[in-house]
Amino acid sequence: MSQTAIDLTPSAARAPHVIAITSGKGGVGKTNLTANLAVSLASRGLRVCVLDADLGLANLDVVLGLSPARSLRDVMRGEHRLEDVLVDGPGGIRIIPAASGFEELTRLGPEDQLRLLAEVDGLEESIDVLLVDTAAGISANVLYFTAAAADALVVITPEPTALTDAYALVKVLATRYGRREFLVAVNMAAGQADAEAAFRRLARVAERFLRVRLEYQGYVPYDDALPRAVRAQHPVVLAAPGSPASQSLAALAGRLAIRPPGRPTGGVQFFFRRLVGEGRA
Ligand SMILES: Nc1ncnc2c1ncn2[C@@H]1O[C@H](COP(=O)(O)OP(=O)(O)OP(=O)(O)O)[C@@H](O)[C@H]1O
Ligand SMILES: [Mg+2]
Repeated sequence: MSQTAIDLTPSAARAPHVIAITSGKGGVGKTNLTANLAVSLASRGLRVCVLDADLGLANLDVVLGLSPARSLRDVMRGEHRLEDVLVDGPGGIRIIPAASGFEELTRLGPEDQLRLLAEVDGLEESIDVLLVDTAAGISANVLYFTAAAADALVVITPEPTALTDAYALVKVLATRYGRREFLVAVNMAAGQADAEAAFRRLARVAERFLRVRLEYQGYVPYDDALPRAVRAQHPVVLAAPGSPASQSLAALAGRLAIRPPGRPTGGVQFFFRRLVGEGRA
């Protein structure tokens, strides 16, 4: 069956798919993957929103050439509606700057909790995919946003340090948060064989010692078109659609588009409920 045929499934038929893009090691390409996957998914007709949950050095806005003035924090404080915080990005995607993490979201009083949940409720109907760009590592905030998402897409590179750090991340998400399934994408690979070998090295050890399942989603080759696009503050899939990186990103998006959420309770409302600590799964 062609992927396009499956993409046309009426979006109202299922809750939005929430995918956290995360990594053990920093600088492996999460933000660029998130931005470009978002644009690629949108070009397939999906309604895509990105939550910028990298609270330290948020640079999704830089990669996308945006300068958001407001964030989710303003929604939590009742100062702005969610629709005023959403920023329009390239290719029809929308971005929610998080600015707040674990500390603030888990300490919301009942009234602020309800206000936030009521505001995000509208997203349930109006988007198909929510991608969450997280920071790297195993800090409380990374684990917090990743644990709340229906799926975790772990980004690795073929470097040994990226693999050991990814193992550490998978281990804590499995042992502390009970996540058993992980999606994996390999970035900056020399080619398909290099990427698959890196994936197998991680998967073999993780499956054996952590009893988790890792599912290979694809790879993005090392490509100078990507840093060039970052300098131009334009997603590479739009700036250089014919480049090897863009073609791989489009293929990766095609695979994610047809994948059902790893958790049945994958919607936006469930994601935010888990974030504010209500009914945490
Ligand atoms: N496939 C690629 N080929 C070449 N360069 C790449 C590729 N992917 C990412 N880069 C470069 O790597 C750098 C880091 O990418 P990015 O900011 O997306 O990583 P990150 O994982 O989000 O980092 P952080 O952990 O700091 O959030 C960028 O300067 C980007 O241009
Ligand atoms: Mg980043």
